[in-house]
Amino acid sequence: MKIPDTILEMIGINKKFNGNPVLKNANFSLYSGEVHAIFGENGSGKTTLMNILAGTLAMDGGEIRLHGKPVQIKNAKHAQELGIGVIFQDTNLFYDMNIAENIFINQEPIYKFGLFKFINWKKINSSTKEILEYLNINVDFETPVKALGYGKQKLIEVARTIVNKSQIIIMDEITVDLTENEIEFLHNVIRNLKSKGVSIIYISHRLDELQQIADRITVIRDGTTVATVDKEKFDSGKLVNMMVGDKIKDRYPKLDVKIGKDVLIVKNVSTDSLLRNISFSLRKGEILGIFGLKGSGKSALAKVLFGIENMKSGNIYLNGRKIKIKSTVDAVRNGISYMPLNRLDVGQISDASIADNIVITKLDDIIRTVFLSNNLKRSKAERYIKMLGIRPSNIYELIKNLSGGNQKKVILAKWLFRKSKILILNEPTSSIDVVSKVDIYNILNELVMSGVSIILISSEIPELIGICDRILVMHKGSLVKEFNRGEATQELILHYASVGS
Ligand SMILES: Nc1ncnc2c1ncn2[C@@H]1O[C@H](COP(=O)(O)OP(=O)(O)OP(=O)(O)O)[C@@H](O)[C@H]1O
Ligand SMILES: [Mg+2]
Repeated sequence: MKIPDTILEMIGINKKFNGNPVLKNANFSLYSGEVHAIFGENGSGKTTLMNILAGTLAMDGGEIRLHGKPVQIKNAKHAQELGIGVIFQDTNLFYDMNIAENIFINQEPIYKFGLFKFINWKKINSSTKEILEYLNINVDFETPVKALGYGKQKLIEVARTIVNKSQIIIMDEITVDLTENEIEFLHNVIRNLKSKGVSIIYISHRLDELQQIADRITVIRDGTTVATVDKEKFDSGKLVNMMVGDKIKDRYPKLDVKIGKDVLIVKNVSTDSLLRNISFSLRKGEILGIFGLKGSGKSALAKVLFGIENMKSGNIYLNGRKIKIKSTVDAVRNGISYMPLNRLDVGQISDASIADNIVITKLDDIIRTVFLSNNLKRSKAERYIKMLGIRPSNIYELIKNLSGGNQKKVILAKWLFRKSKILILNEPTSSIDVVSKVDIYNILNELVMSGVSIILISSEIPELIGICDRILVMHKGSLVKEFNRGEATQELILHYASVGS
């Protein structure tokens, strides 16, 4: 067997934040042309380790070797020059600039004319065309990046690392908000890059994804790398075990909760854009799942129920009484809460009016004061932090200092705080590690036991099957199928979601 060529070694890496050790002698090595995954709980130090490699954080101790030679990575630009490209979950693009400008920023080809230097726009434009073709993105290269969907934006970031001729590309949870098709496409791009000798560091909480794409997985626990496992030896039970040191017993702890009568009835709801004659009901104490592929309208439906998008026709009844939801104010007044898809959308719902945003901010203020002043409420905040296993558990820690998954848990806690009667959750467990997911399901259980009704929008079919009382499937703006608990399988759900009948 050919001995693989090691291009990167990170040896004994240490990093403290405010005196707290976050990385403790972490080791990581990378072969050329491999996809090497890092797997670990929320807050275990994955992103910190990558920030050190990408030159955005300085380490306190340890050594980094590239091609066997020690290097001091001074800053992000230096990392880029060393051939290290990085893509994080939160998109790092200039939204008002076009695709070509975004791809070539800081790496513009230059030509000289006598003493003058010019940016070679002709070259930029032709190369952008080429790379868009390679990535199968059929849009004009002068399109502003903000006009692209999230999936395409991620590919533009990949394009940037390719143009930069990165030998190492870090992908830190970049598939969280991608559809299955987009993930598959990205995986093909990765295979192609691999065949050209590029190495990928791939971070994801989804074991199914890692099993598909990774050649090796390094498990990290509390800032220490505990093992590196080869593809042939992947075993999800063992990996989870290594990650938490203790086996999780039940991934979907579903409780038998008594389900009451209909609280919300949606009748023939249509919108100008996508939704067609949507009718369904939600019962007291029920967890109602909604599945649909991209463009099926599942988020649009949530937005209608929360007053972010207006309906054209149809009716909504709450406890038998017809209600009008024309704004988020109406929704909140009727006891409806919505946790949107993207963690960055949470502070501000860009599609809603200023007034609506103020209500939300007001609620945030109440919550903030609750967090800071009122002792009784403070102990509640502490309880949520404990229940959700938020780390660090200090209620005064700034959100921006938390790991991605822990930020998401805080946001969830915030919505749980609202004591709403109907809770609409859009992908509440994306970017949450497999163990913490169980904490979240337990909270959903607790909520439905107290009489709350939950609409759970998710693209993780096992989660829907495991935790929901009923599952609705959407296809091209219509509801096409309803499953009672025990009736649905992965295949059936996918069938109705893609074919519609
Ligand atoms: N700038 C910072 N200041 C203080 N603490 C920080 C800072 N950045 C990260 N931390 C802490 O370091 C720890 C590791 O965070 P990191 O983001 O590396 O975790 P992660 O493994 O990427 O988690 P996730 O799966 O949730 O993304 C966390 O406890 C986090 O709160
Ligand atoms: Mg992270």
